[in-house]
Amino acid sequence: MSRLRLGVNIDHVATIRNARGSTYPDPVRAAEMAIAAGADGITAHLREDRRHISDSDIEALAVITRKRGRPLNFEMAVTQEMEAIALAHLPHAACLVPERREERTTEGGLDVAGGHNAIAPVVRRLVEAGIRVSCFIDADPVQAQASKDMGAQVIELHTGAYCDAVRERSGEADRLLDALRRTSEAAERMGLEIHAGHGIDYETVKPIAAIPQLAELNIGHFLIGEAIFTGLGPAIQRMRMLMDAARANSEAELAQSTSR
Ligand code: PXP
Repeated sequence: MSRLRLGVNIDHVATIRNARGSTYPDPVRAAEMAIAAGADGITAHLREDRRHISDSDIEALAVITRKRGRPLNFEMAVTQEMEAIALAHLPHAACLVPERREERTTEGGLDVAGGHNAIAPVVRRLVEAGIRVSCFIDADPVQAQASKDMGAQVIELHTGAYCDAVRERSGEADRLLDALRRTSEAAERMGLEIHAGHGIDYETVKPIAAIPQLAELNIGHFLIGEAIFTGLGPAIQRMRMLMDAARANSEAELAQSTSR
């Protein structure tokens, strides 16, 4: 089982800054702090309405992640404008996400299978430019296969529905976790790298991190919230510790089941 990487999404530092139209808190400073605390990469979503991260944030984040030798994961809608920005900054990775202006956050996965004609040429151009392309999808092997067929090297599984179900104690959590597990197994057989993210907190990170096929988690909103109480560095370190513990447990269980 490979080490699970942690990408820290710093969008909501910019949300707080923009609430006052001020220059602080600075998401670039948060990215520096996240890297110092052990983040394996920085994730940022430049939304079409610029509600949090701005164009100049992306410019600065591209510079500091390069300087610190950490990947920048640029979350983007499949639009000409975002493609041009990705091609101008050449981040390590681009994660294609659906975007609706009226939504509070990215509410569902990208319909890669249904949107083939619009998405495939963008994937091709980004891959040709040397960017690692990931598609943010719901836990559905059909969407994973469509991503693979389009040339994406990575899928990111949307964990939001599962995390909401756990928080709301809705009774749907087991089924949703099972869908994440089964899609991860199927995607591994397809030769895809598998990431996961959205809505993850200290509770939900444990079963998610235990999914052996996952290579990376991207976590933002909860960590930025926790940073108010504990500081960003300690919040990231605690998340890292929980990820490592979940992985170690899952490895021990796997070893036990194969030795039986
Ligand atoms: N991954 C993707 C593709 C996302 O769009 C987001 C939210 O911007 C995240 C991960 C992080 O989600 P959260 O902020 O809920 O941890």
